[in-house]
Amino acid sequence: MTNTNLNTQSVLSMKGEGYYSQKTLGAKNAIDKTQSIIESALKVIPKTDILKMADYGSADGGTSQEMWFNIIEKIKNSGDERQIEILYTDLASNDFSVLFRMMQGMQGNLDFAYQKKFSNIFVHGCGTGFHEQLMANNSLSLGFSATAMHYVSERPCLINDHVHMVGSNEEEKQKFKNQALKDWETILLNRSRELISGGRFICINFGIDEDGRYLGNTGGHNMFNNFTKHWKNLEKDGFITNEEFVNATFTQHYRTLDEFRKPFDDQNSEVTKSGLILKSCKTMFTDCPFKIHYNNNKSTMSSRDYAASLIPTMRSWSETVFKTALEKRNPDEITRIVDQFYNSYMEEISNSPEGHAMDYIHIVMDIQKV
Ligand SMILES: C[S@@+](CC[C@H](N)C(=O)[O-])C[C@H]1O[C@@H](n2cnc3c(N)ncnc32)[C@H](O)[C@@H]1O
Repeated sequence: MTNTNLNTQSVLSMKGEGYYSQKTLGAKNAIDKTQSIIESALKVIPKTDILKMADYGSADGGTSQEMWFNIIEKIKNSGDERQIEILYTDLASNDFSVLFRMMQGMQGNLDFAYQKKFSNIFVHGCGTGFHEQLMANNSLSLGFSATAMHYVSERPCLINDHVHMVGSNEEEKQKFKNQALKDWETILLNRSRELISGGRFICINFGIDEDGRYLGNTGGHNMFNNFTKHWKNLEKDGFITNEEFVNATFTQHYRTLDEFRKPFDDQNSEVTKSGLILKSCKTMFTDCPFKIHYNNNKSTMSSRDYAASLIPTMRSWSETVFKTALEKRNPDEITRIVDQFYNSYMEEISNSPEGHAMDYIHIVMDIQKV
């Protein structure tokens, strides 16, 4: 029997032990580009006794560490001596131990271990999902979230002929869209409760831009179609069953700009009534850093080297979906099949690297509680 909602936490988790942030340079680059929006917001957010900030869906904290370091350094240099509390949130299954070690300078890049470098910084972790309220009412000055809120709270259905809603049929797509809209409203209402008046929630989320582009689909090959093709080949060759093929359904929805705007555009929505306004909403393209590196180093890098650099970045966030689809098998078998899956994708890139990349498309939103 196929299972729609099974084991959501393990389906969503990033690979642990710091693997996520080591392999996702593009996600870091996208975060770094939002520093200026956060800086500007902090200048006008009303001053509270304690400055409380949050990073929702932070994973191991590595991708946003430099950005937070820079922000905190600027706050300190401006003469603002308030105590700062920063709350990192993710699912209970997240590897928070890596995060705490990194901020304390016990692991990773010590240059950005801000908890060690500055005084009066208090780092906290919260393992409750961001669809819930996570902080006391009216306590948060600035919330931030990167590349996390495309995860829907539950899979509304399994997708029969694809692995992701971007390639699903209209009926399946509508179910994902409805779930994502409900989730977006819940997320916003809970942020609204947490924020102080004048506080800001700045988020960059995966979505679909004005030209229909999205992660891994920016003009060349479509990464999600390739996932589907290689996963289907395993079924055709008898390595996995049709049930296992279908079980690999990403618990994600890529919202369009209109979908993100909807609760704000409706003057009678609960979100608008709660006091949230959308100050700005725009799309952001971030080049795949592995593609750039390969293009700049073709004289010394083979197409195989390129494939071997690109696949791990895709694997860091997608692997758990394929592993979980095989969960009735023993661990060795699961590892063998999933390795075979990524190796066949790697082989395709090695043979013909042109057009393979994982460029990022984000929808950047600056939201204020008035
Ligand atoms: C792709 S990673 C992004 C990590 C980091 N923010 C970045 O931009 O590099 C998505 C993160 O969102 C987390 N996540 C997914 N659903 C969540 C939820 N409901 N509540 C909190 N975190 C969630 C995942 O566990 C994962 O760590």
